[in-house]
Order: sequence, then C-alpha cells, then structure tokens
Amino acid sequence: MSTSQTSMISVQNLVRDYGPIRALSDVSFLIERGQVVGLLGPNGAGKTTCMKILTGFIAATSGQVLIDGKDIVEHGVEVRKRIGYLPENAPLYQDMRARDYLHFVARLRNIAPEKIKERIEHVAKVIQIESVLNQDIGTLSKGYRQRVGLAQAMIHDPEILILDEPTSGLDPNQIIEIRELIKEVGKDRTVILSTHNLHEVTATCNRILIVHKGRLIADGSPAEIQEQHGGSNTFKISIQGAGESVKDTLMGLEGVTDVVRLENQDQAATDWRLFGAADVDLRADIFNLAVQNGWTLLELHHERQDLETIFQRLTLT
Ligand SMILES: Nc1ncnc2c1ncn2[C@@H]1O[C@H](COP(=O)(O)OP(=O)(O)OP(=O)(O)O)[C@@H](O)[C@H]1O
Ligand SMILES: [Mg+2]
Repeated sequence: MSTSQTSMISVQNLVRDYGPIRALSDVSFLIERGQVVGLLGPNGAGKTTCMKILTGFIAATSGQVLIDGKDIVEHGVEVRKRIGYLPENAPLYQDMRARDYLHFVARLRNIAPEKIKERIEHVAKVIQIESVLNQDIGTLSKGYRQRVGLAQAMIHDPEILILDEPTSGLDPNQIIEIRELIKEVGKDRTVILSTHNLHEVTATCNRILIVHKGRLIADGSPAEIQEQHGGSNTFKISIQGAGESVKDTLMGLEGVTDVVRLENQDQAATDWRLFGAADVDLRADIFNLAVQNGWTLLELHHERQDLETIFQRLTLT
C-alpha cells in the first residue's frame, strides 16, 4: 500500500508563492523507494522550486513534504542527511581541485574525518572521475564538472538523489554517459531528476511527473501517460480495389466506434480511418477481417499519439 506515511517521498498540496507569483499550486504526489522519477516541464513550470522545497533549501508557502514519513520542516536536519542534491547550474568552486572540493563537502556533511578519503575514492570510482581528482574544477570539461557535481551529491551516500537538470549543457555523448550513471546509481536509490527533455525521461526514468504552470498535469509511466492522455485511438488502413461497401463491414468490427473514408491519391486503393475505444488494439482484428473478406491490405497503421505530441499538447497553453 502506498500512503503518505509509507512512501519514500510524500508531497501533499504543495504551494509556493514568490511574492505575487504562484510557482507551485497544490502539487501532490507519492514516490516509492527505488523509483527513478522524471520531473518534466517547460521553462518556468516549477521544477526547480519543487526540488528546492524537497531538499529543504526553501520553504513551502503551504502544504507538506514527508521523507520516509518524517516532516521535512520538523525533522529538517535528519531528513537532509538522507538527501543528495545537484542544484541547477551547480555552483562549484572553480579554483579548487575536485578532490579538495569533495573533501570540503564531505566535512560539511559531517562525514567522520578518517572516513573521508575512502569515501571520496569510492564515489570517484562510481562516478568515474578518478583521473581528474587532482585537477582544478575550473579546468574541467562541462561533462566532468557535472560529474563532480554528482559526486558531491552522493558523497554522504544518500538514499535519495535530487538532480536538477543533470544533463543540461552537455554534448550528446556526455548526455548518454550521465544517463547511464544515473541509471546505475538509481538501482539502489530513489532518484528525482528534472528536465525539459522528453527523451531524457523516457531513457532514464520509470515514472514521469509532468508539471506545467505550477501544476501537476500528468503522472505515470510513459505507457500510462500515453494511455491516459493519448486522446483518440485510431487506425489507418488502405485496402486495394475495395469500394465504399467495406465501410459497413469495418463498422461491424467489435471495438470500432467510427469509420471515416480518407482522401487518397492512389486510385487503386481506398483509405480509411477507424476509431477504436480508448485502449483496444484492433490491428489483429482488422487484419483477420481483411483475410475473411479477401481484401488486400496495403497499409495498417496504429495512430496513437506519441509521448512527444502528448507533452506538446499538454504544455502548449
Ligand atoms: N526567487 C524567485 N523569485 C521570484 N520568482 C521566482 C523565483 N524563483 C522562481 N521564480 C518563478 O517561479 C516560477 C517557477 O520557476 P522554476 O525555476 O521553479 O521553474 P523551472 O521549471 O525550474 O524552470 P526552468 O526549466 O527554466 O529551470 C517561474 O515563474 C519563475 O519565474
Ligand atoms: Mg529549473
């Protein structure tokens, strides 16, 4: 059972105002242990605001956040120990060596001094920054700087990682590498990452939260979001040599709610769009119907909207 008490992260009716601007309005969700969740939304949607509240960086105007059942305001110090945070545009000390910076963060995180070296070596290995530990951060490539940011978020071995746009500004190869890293470290952690990139979430996350204008407008796996917000479920077919008469036969197919003839250039065929009930896949039935009636099926295409289209439609207005 998932409730606000048993979930790893529970966000209830979160509101955050910046003066007259309402950056988050009544946002609620639960995240279970071990989930890798993508917070997806266009610029200004409220992703960073949400993450800053989850990490105790800023306070909510109203609403509640529980981490493993504990209120983030009442148990701030204790809860923050369990969270690692990669802020948006992570501000790193440019003239510090990566190793010294991680040492500094480890001390801030109250890691016992005799354990710090070992901890840095371990994280550096996982994040693959061993070769640059002795280099000044300012001289690192963006990808490596982002890795140092990730290492800093993980130095105290937190159960929860909150990563604000972990791949922004990276080249395509680095993006793939960072995604792989996140998947790897997400195997035994709860991760929330933000992005405006749909491909990012589908590549890395098993659950997507779409925020738009401070509201949560979709929540689910990519497949669930497609099902809930995909709109009409239609099939386009092209039949060789058939006339208007096939329409009644197509209408007779169970699960078909409407059939429309399409304009087509090809004189030798007729094209049709079949509308199906929300989540039925009629492809096999259409194929079998064609066989039974001796029609030559030239084309059979399931026209469900892809996630990209759904995301655009949901966040356009
Ligand atoms: N310190 C602040 N003062 C005033 N308004 C703010 C402040 N921080 C954020 N906002 C406003 O709150 C809204 C949400 O901003 P937020 O940074 O959370 O969005 P975001 O989803 O992270 O956007 P981006 O993708 O551009 O990073 C925006 O309208 C923004 O202008
Ligand atoms: Mg942001």
